[in-house]
Amino acid sequence: MFPPREDPLPGNGARMSRRGFLEFTGSAALAATGLALAPGRVFPAENAKKIRIGVVGGNFGTQWYWHEHPNCVVTGVTDLRPDRRERLVKTYGCKTVYDSLETMVKQARDIDAVAVFSGAPDHAKHVEMCMARGWHVISAVPACMSLEEAQRMVEAKKRSGMSYMMAETSWYRQGVIYARNLYKAGGFGEMYYSEVEYYHDLGDMQRYVDDKTTRMYEPDGSRSWRWGLPPMLYPTHSTGCLLGVSDERITKVSCLGWRGDSAAYREHPCRDNVYNNPFYSAASMMLTDRGHMCRCNVFWRLVGHGERAQWFGDRASLYMPLDGVHGAVEAIRTQGHRKLDVPRYWKTAEMLPPAMRHDTGHDGSHVFLAAEFINALVDEREPEINLERALAMTVPGIVAHESALRDGEQLEVPRFEA
Ligand SMILES: NC(=O)c1ccc[n+]([C@@H]2O[C@H](COP(=O)([O-])OP(=O)(O)OC[C@H]3O[C@@H](n4cnc5c(N)ncnc54)[C@H](O)[C@@H]3O)[C@@H](O)[C@H]2O)c1
Repeated sequence: MFPPREDPLPGNGARMSRRGFLEFTGSAALAATGLALAPGRVFPAENAKKIRIGVVGGNFGTQWYWHEHPNCVVTGVTDLRPDRRERLVKTYGCKTVYDSLETMVKQARDIDAVAVFSGAPDHAKHVEMCMARGWHVISAVPACMSLEEAQRMVEAKKRSGMSYMMAETSWYRQGVIYARNLYKAGGFGEMYYSEVEYYHDLGDMQRYVDDKTTRMYEPDGSRSWRWGLPPMLYPTHSTGCLLGVSDERITKVSCLGWRGDSAAYREHPCRDNVYNNPFYSAASMMLTDRGHMCRCNVFWRLVGHGERAQWFGDRASLYMPLDGVHGAVEAIRTQGHRKLDVPRYWKTAEMLPPAMRHDTGHDGSHVFLAAEFINALVDEREPEINLERALAMTVPGIVAHESALRDGEQLEVPRFEA
């Protein structure tokens, strides 16, 4: 896979020689078949501690397998909608149901941690509410929608001392785990440029405008939080592919937005929305604290789909699969391109309790996120995607949106220490 060399490899991430890498993996054979570094810390099998978790949000919030982790028990579920409360009860086998998070905060006496899977604009508020109640939190992405909310979350965490994790699925996509391992092994050389992208085509806009059963609407016909959501306020599937590999921080951003064909429609998400957002799709150039470049896109209207990346180093490049076009490809200097069989880490990963070693949504990432949150609470350590990293993935998008509103002006990205 790599030409033999014993000296530390060039690059500015964790540096490791090939021999060091093989010693670290403990298996030359495994390393040769696909970079077998562990995706995370081993789950604490000997520890009998139980984390009692409450779940907020009965849509995406039903996809997290909490009941399969031996150190976790679901002790409360809530959604504003009765049909979704029912889904939560069925999924997690928990019969303690609250009609809102607000009620759960007032009434529940048997909760240690909460999984916040409400709509994006509510995350910061709900996280603050849970932390103030003395509950640890795992939240769906994004962490927040404004710099003010980011600051408030930092303060809420400091005040309460509670743990926070963001459930960014890109972090544990199998291809991103592979890239992270390649990075840690020094295989990229200096990984100085990446292209990270989240493409989620909304398809026929007229259908979205007319069909009240789509996710653009609530059951009562009112517009949902997704109506007109600025693409760059949902950046973490893209930025997660950079931070999840090299852990560098984005310091500056310049962004342009596409306003789309809104005039063609009677109503249109990008002409009339609560965010005052004119953009359908946005493309940005980001600079990192290591002097590296990242082209970061979030598109709501395109022919294509995917949460993916390609990473370029002076020694190797890696291309995540492009739906319907090609699979994963690795290119190494002097060795040419090769098709890559990315390991399915969820089959064997020791950070996963055996019951959780199965395929899940977003390229197998869900079990990793759920297990990491519980493992970290049991071990009494910071989770991998802590508040500092969550904000480092979210805030560049907030600044990018502002840059797009200012026709691409390059803006500094503030850093939030948590
Ligand atoms: N790959 C990913 O990481 C990924 C994928 C899908 C969705 N998400 C994120 O997950 C979150 C949830 O997505 P979704 O599709 O389920 O959204 P959704 O809007 O369909 O569901 C959110 C649910 O939260 C409930 N809710 C809101 N406020 C509440 C309160 N105060 N108390 C109790 N329940 C409350 C709502 O009733 C609703 O059912 C979103 O933020 C979304 O961005 C992430």
